[in-house]
Amino acid sequence: MNKDNTPFMNMLESVLVNVWGGNSEQLTKTQLINTRKALSEIRKIYRLRGEDGTPQPSRINFKFKKNRAGYLAAFGEAHAYLSFLHLKNVFSKRPEAIPTPKGKHNELVITSLGAGACVELYGICLYYSQYAQRHLRIILNTVEKERAWTPNRQLVFVKVLKKAFPKIEIDPVEIGVDLRKDTIPELARYYDSLANTDILIIYNVLNEIPVTYTKYVWKNIKFLIDNFKKDVLILIMEPSAGRAEPRIYNIEEKLIYESDLISSSKEETFTFEASPVCIAMNPSEDNLNYRLFGLRIDGEKPNFYNKIKRNHLSCIKKSKSVISPEQIWLQLSLLGRKRGRKGKFLPKDMKNTQQYTLNL
Ligand SMILES: C[S@@+](CC[C@H](N)C(=O)[O-])C[C@H]1O[C@@H](n2cnc3c(N)ncnc32)[C@H](O)[C@@H]1O
Repeated sequence: MNKDNTPFMNMLESVLVNVWGGNSEQLTKTQLINTRKALSEIRKIYRLRGEDGTPQPSRINFKFKKNRAGYLAAFGEAHAYLSFLHLKNVFSKRPEAIPTPKGKHNELVITSLGAGACVELYGICLYYSQYAQRHLRIILNTVEKERAWTPNRQLVFVKVLKKAFPKIEIDPVEIGVDLRKDTIPELARYYDSLANTDILIIYNVLNEIPVTYTKYVWKNIKFLIDNFKKDVLILIMEPSAGRAEPRIYNIEEKLIYESDLISSSKEETFTFEASPVCIAMNPSEDNLNYRLFGLRIDGEKPNFYNKIKRNHLSCIKKSKSVISPEQIWLQLSLLGRKRGRKGKFLPKDMKNTQQYTLNL
């Protein structure tokens, strides 16, 4: 393991190699040069947003390896840590809003819209692993239109998360939909998994969807939030650039109207200076950030940043049900019934279950 890297960067390199189609732990010189070029191009697209003849972020085609590699190299490490800082921010304002894992497997259900490689799950695992020593099972609903991310995302689970958090098991549910369309029939196929969501993550996706599609994006999000069975923590993190505002604010305002706001900011600078969210560049060939940003290889050095500006929001969507899920389970147990996988009510095996009595 490269001792000069942060835990996340130690493992991200093999994911970058996977994006380029290799299977070693280290980028070859050609892959490194191509990653550096790609990360500069992606940064330019997010910075200029259509000015100077650059394409809009909505035109980035993540089917292409160079765009996936460039995105992960440019923003992967910061995005992996942002969700940790986001949860800490929620805890400082409303500690009870942090969902508690439940059930005999200590389960948490997370839904990510525009998941990409879902590196934001790293920060969520980091947060829960700091506060819970027990084994944790995360059911992860990834809502994503681009299938090319799938093998890269799986490698993030296997290479990054499993190694960094051996006590956390990830159980992914792949939901391939385009949020610009009416995807309700497709989302409904995953009803059970989506309706049990504890945390809904919307990271760096709204700004990629042109404002003309807001109506459909909202329709899909509304379907999700209306069907949540529990109180759900919603976390949004998007670029703070002025030109992205119309795409982000419209949905944020609608969400605020439907939920309890915890915190929001149009623009906040997140700095990654201290452990466990330290982004560092040590002058050593072992350090991936040094190879990406610190050396002059084949042209300009890309700038190195250990901070990022983001527009963010956190809120709680209260469940509509007046009866808590726990009360429903108790009631079903009293009736000797259980809910089957497809939603049917089935007889429950009463031999091995606790017997409840009604005190009338
Ligand atoms: C910039 S990446 C963000 C990935 C990850 N959430 C993060 O923060 O690092 C945006 C992702 O959203 C996906 N996306 C963009 N528009 C989408 C849409 N209309 N429906 C579903 N996914 C979409 C893209 O394919 C891409 O993977």
